[in-house]
Amino acid sequence: MSIFEIFGLLFLLYLIKDFISKNRNISQNPKVRGPLSLPLLGSLWTLGKLPHEDFSRLSKRYGNIMSFYMGDTYTLVITSPDMLREIFVKNFDSFVERTRSPIFKKVTDNYRNFISGDESYWRPFKAMLASSFTKQTLKNHVTKSIDDQTQQLVDVMKSFAETLEPFAPKKFLERYTFNIITKYVMDEQIPYDQEEMTNSPLVKLFDHFSVILQQLGSANLADFVNVLKPFYEYYLFHSDQPYDHITKLLREKTEETMKTYKPNVTRHLMDHCIAELGTESEHAKRSVTNITVDLLVAGAETSNGTLQWCLLMLANHPNYQENCYQEVYEIGKDKLLILNSDRTATPFTQAFIKEVMRVHPIAPLGLPRRAKEDIWVQDVFIPKDTQIIQNIRSLLQSEQYWDDPLTFKPERFLSGMQSQHFVPFGVGPRMCIGMTLATEEIYTAIANIILNFKISPLNGIDKIDESEVFGLTIHPNDFQVKLEKRKNKLF
Ligand code: HEM
Repeated sequence: MSIFEIFGLLFLLYLIKDFISKNRNISQNPKVRGPLSLPLLGSLWTLGKLPHEDFSRLSKRYGNIMSFYMGDTYTLVITSPDMLREIFVKNFDSFVERTRSPIFKKVTDNYRNFISGDESYWRPFKAMLASSFTKQTLKNHVTKSIDDQTQQLVDVMKSFAETLEPFAPKKFLERYTFNIITKYVMDEQIPYDQEEMTNSPLVKLFDHFSVILQQLGSANLADFVNVLKPFYEYYLFHSDQPYDHITKLLREKTEETMKTYKPNVTRHLMDHCIAELGTESEHAKRSVTNITVDLLVAGAETSNGTLQWCLLMLANHPNYQENCYQEVYEIGKDKLLILNSDRTATPFTQAFIKEVMRVHPIAPLGLPRRAKEDIWVQDVFIPKDTQIIQNIRSLLQSEQYWDDPLTFKPERFLSGMQSQHFVPFGVGPRMCIGMTLATEEIYTAIANIILNFKISPLNGIDKIDESEVFGLTIHPNDFQVKLEKRKNKLF
């Protein structure tokens, strides 16, 4: 037998063993079922271009707690709200950490960041950042910049309404959410003005973010198959990656900020972190850089995508847009700007935004976690290192928890009846830290857009395409709308 034949035979035996052990593991857990697992690929063969839709389809077939091999990573896909709370709230300590893969190792600086950091990083960072995202802190430090950005956004949109030029929202909404978070984190903004936009150093950062989000969103087999992982990891750590440019730019910014830092003067969130971590150590420099990257990555794209969906749904549902307009007009007719403090006086507009987030949740599978140890939860055995996926989109559209779930019906939120299953930001101590900020920036932009403009599909188009593009966040295909200035506003 030649060396190649021996190698081939060993590989075949490995595939057979892999096939048997994966499917035995699935069948040994009687409370959970899942699709057949193939050698190496695991159950990935069941996923297409829109994995969140596939998980919805599969969980209807296999149940609210579904087992699924992502390559070699044993995974539980959770659609049951009770089980989500058992795992992420009651047993939080056992599921505090996120999943591991070569790409995450690379973009998290070896799990030393906040979003995907190991427990030893996450806990102190969370303690340091929690107070920066409370309602009161945001009111003191962010609300004004949200109002400024909203005014600038509305002004840009007015120029489109005046010329009746089609308005492509993506670029401007990106700028809106990016500016709000960069202003808060490092007191910088990209001007809306086209010329200046291309010259701003922050634009480089912004461009790198789009690439990195694409990279993170597109699943790579090498992230999940054990034999491929070391090669992929080597490639990621020994080649020029978009992430390296972001870290380099923000590391420079961190060092520059540390040089001008004065104790007792907090200019922005970076200063707040520097006050806690110091200016000297490598740990401090690394941590401030990593946290800054995290907040910019997580803070801009998510709210931007949600805003895009809101505009699209306003254009596609003129009756609901009119209901929102009547409501915001009463509040905003004699004001320059509708404010976040007006939110409770506009319940329908709030319900509209929630319904957009239910039908098009921007993070339909949340951010995966990992079991730290073997544990039993509600009669289900969860082995150490199991990956846990929150099947948020499926839960938000399940007939078990919502009436008529596939119909877009904002009024469902007016009674508050079904709100306990509304979990687009995740649940438990590691849920989205930016929820209050996101809610405020989305509301302020949308309420003022509705007050100032009638939004419709372009002439000749009945409805804008609502199909979803899968990535780190789920966004619509690029689209344009027609803007008409509302005439009856006093200012
Ligand atoms: C519509 C907007 C947003 C949605 C739907 C959203 C959703 C989510 C979800 C589902 C998670 C995972 C939670 C979990 O593991 O249980 C998350 C985590 C996170 N989000 Fe958001 N997010 C949004 C906006 C923001 C904004 C504006 C920020 C800015 C600060 C932000 C910062 C973060 C961070 C830092 C984490 C990681 C939290 C941790 O690991 O402790 N998000 N988000």
